[in-house]
Amino acid sequence: MSAIRIAPSLLAADFTRLGEEVRAIEAAGADWLHLDIMDGHFVPNISFGPGLVKALRPHSRMPFDVHLMIAPADPYLAAFAEAGADIISLHPEAGPHLHRSLQTIRALGRKAGVVLNPATPVESLAHVLDLTDLILVMSVNPGFGGQSFLSSQLEKIATLRRMITQSGHEIALQVDGGVTLKTAPDCIAAGADVLVAGTAVFGAPDYAAAIAGLRGGA
Ligand code: DX5
Ligand code: ZN
Repeated sequence: MSAIRIAPSLLAADFTRLGEEVRAIEAAGADWLHLDIMDGHFVPNISFGPGLVKALRPHSRMPFDVHLMIAPADPYLAAFAEAGADIISLHPEAGPHLHRSLQTIRALGRKAGVVLNPATPVESLAHVLDLTDLILVMSVNPGFGGQSFLSSQLEKIATLRRMITQSGHEIALQVDGGVTLKTAPDCIAAGADVLVAGTAVFGAPDYAAAIAGLRGGA
């Protein structure tokens, strides 16, 4: 059985019927729901906040994977935990104390993730691996769906896979941005085990086929 998990990004869903879209991807075999939170300040786009996460929570049993693209992030961690996030990920650039932010997420009883922008080096999380449940490698500059995959990030994924193995910690390695049927195999070969996909799932005519294809099981 494949260990690859697929996390469709709600950003590419039909916003006029989000509950239905979430139920549809769950029925189609999605593993996690990826929720992109954008503030128009940390990234040049605005999406949605904890109110929407809370509204969707009763519609799904999938883990809610909340990707915070907001700065500061610390004042909102509790709100997203209460709204029903299972995993809360943030960028090191979102605040001065990444270690403290990860401690806060864990203290809220949620899994903690660190997101690396394309230009952010792997060293920025080298000393917080003991507090990290998930590492997210951005394979586009964050802010928008539908961008082209940056293959320069494959080497970073491979480096992080080695770091995770050496650390002995159980840490998921996720990739986000431009993941398609064409780029997913390279991500998996480099060592990623969770694939975020917006356009490649919600833009496909058959969600189940798209998810199975990304997982490599089509
Ligand atoms: C980009 C977001 C992504 C985005 C992915 O800032 O973090 O999750 O929704 O969209 P696609 O898969 O279309 O590149
Ligand atoms: Zn994302």
